[in-house]
Amino acid sequence: MAGVVLKDIRKAYGQVKVLHGIDLDIRQGEFVVFVGPSGCGKSTLLRMISGLESITGGEMFIDGQLVNEVPPSRRGIAMVFQSYALYPHMTVYDNMAFGMRIAKESKQEIDRRVRSAAEILQLTPYLDRLPKALSGGQRQRVAIGRAICRNPKVFLFDEPLSNLDAALRVATRIEIAKLNEAMPDTTMIYVTHDQVEAMTLADRIVVLSAGRIEQVGAPLELYERPHNLFVARFIGSPAMNIIPATITETGETTTVSLRGGKSVRLPIATAATEKGKAASFGVRPEDLSIATGDEYLFEGQVSIVEALGEVTLLYIEGLADQEPIIAKIPGILDAKKGHAMRFAADPAKLHLFDAEGKTYRK
Ligand SMILES: Nc1ncnc2c1ncn2[C@@H]1O[C@H](COP(=O)(O)OP(=O)(O)OP(=O)(O)O)[C@@H](O)[C@H]1O
Ligand SMILES: [Mg+2]
Repeated sequence: MAGVVLKDIRKAYGQVKVLHGIDLDIRQGEFVVFVGPSGCGKSTLLRMISGLESITGGEMFIDGQLVNEVPPSRRGIAMVFQSYALYPHMTVYDNMAFGMRIAKESKQEIDRRVRSAAEILQLTPYLDRLPKALSGGQRQRVAIGRAICRNPKVFLFDEPLSNLDAALRVATRIEIAKLNEAMPDTTMIYVTHDQVEAMTLADRIVVLSAGRIEQVGAPLELYERPHNLFVARFIGSPAMNIIPATITETGETTTVSLRGGKSVRLPIATAATEKGKAASFGVRPEDLSIATGDEYLFEGQVSIVEALGEVTLLYIEGLADQEPIIAKIPGILDAKKGHAMRFAADPAKLHLFDAEGKTYRK
C-alpha cells in the first residue's frame, strides 16, 4: 500500500529544532492537507517526505518501505510548488514529456501519458503552445500535468494555487479535486493557507503549530469538535469568538460567568472539581443570530458593519474590555454603527475550553 507513515519524525537545522516528533499515518489514496501558521514547519515536512530535506530523527515509510536514506528520485513522488518552473522554450507537450524522455520511456508511452494528463487537466487544446501564451492557471496546470506524467505513487503540493488570482484559484482547485477523483490510488499531500481549499479538498486535515500536530481529522470534525483553543481559532473564518469565563456550576450541564457578568448554561458535562476554575467560552460568528425574544446570549453595541452581500459581519463592543465579538448574519441587514443589539446562539453550538485551552467534551 502506497501510504505514507511518519513515526516520531524530527527536524533540526543545527541547534534550531523545527519539527518535534510527528506521528502520522496516511492511507494510500488519501488526500491529506497540512495547515498551520507561517513557519510552523509545513513545507519542511513536505520536503522531508519528498526527500529534498534530510530527516534528523524518526522513521519514514512510503509504500511500506523505510525511506529515510532513499533519494528523491527513487521514492515514487512528484511535487508541485507555489511557483511553477516550466521550460519557456518548450511547448506544453514537451514540458510534460521532458521527464519521461530523460527516463527513456517509449514514444508511445510518453504520448499516452501526456494526452491522458492533458485530458484530465483540460489542457488538450494547448499542447502545442509555449508557456508564455498561457494564463497563470493554465501554466500551473501544466506543472501539475508534468507531475502526473511521472506516474507518482504520492503527489505533494506546496501551496500550488497561492500565486493565482481568486477566480483562477477556484477553477484550478476544482481541477485538483477532479484529478484526485481520476487518480483514486494516488496519495496526495497538500499544503495551503486557504481555508476553503483545506475544507473542500481534504479527506483529513492536519493542523500544525510550532512543529507539532495539534489535531488530525476530517474537515467537519475539526470544525465541529476542535480538541483545543488553537484548532478552534485556526479552523473557520472569521475565527471563533473567545470570551474569558469562570465556571460557576458543574454537573450534567455547566454554567459559566462570562467576563462582563452574563451567565451562560452549556450542554456540556463537567466534574464538580471544575467549579470556580477559569475557562474560555467560544462561539463561532456564524452560530450567532439576532435575538428575537427575551432569551439572549449577550448584548452589545455595533462598532463596525461589513456588508458583503451574502452575509453581514457585525463587530460588537461592550463586553467589558473584550476585543469585539464578530457575528456573521446571512443577507443584508439594516444595522448601523452605534446600534445596541442582542445576540442568541443554539446552545449545542457553544464551546468551552479549560484554562490550558483543552476542550471540555460534550
Ligand atoms: N534551511 C533552513 N535553515 C534554518 N531554518 C530553516 C530552514 N528552512 C526552514 N527553516 C525554519 O524552519 C521553520 C519552518 O519552516 P517552513 O518553511 O517549514 O514553514 P511553513 O510552515 O512552510 O511556513 P509558510 O506557511 O510561511 O510557508 C521556520 O521557522 C523556518 O525559519
Ligand atoms: Mg511553506
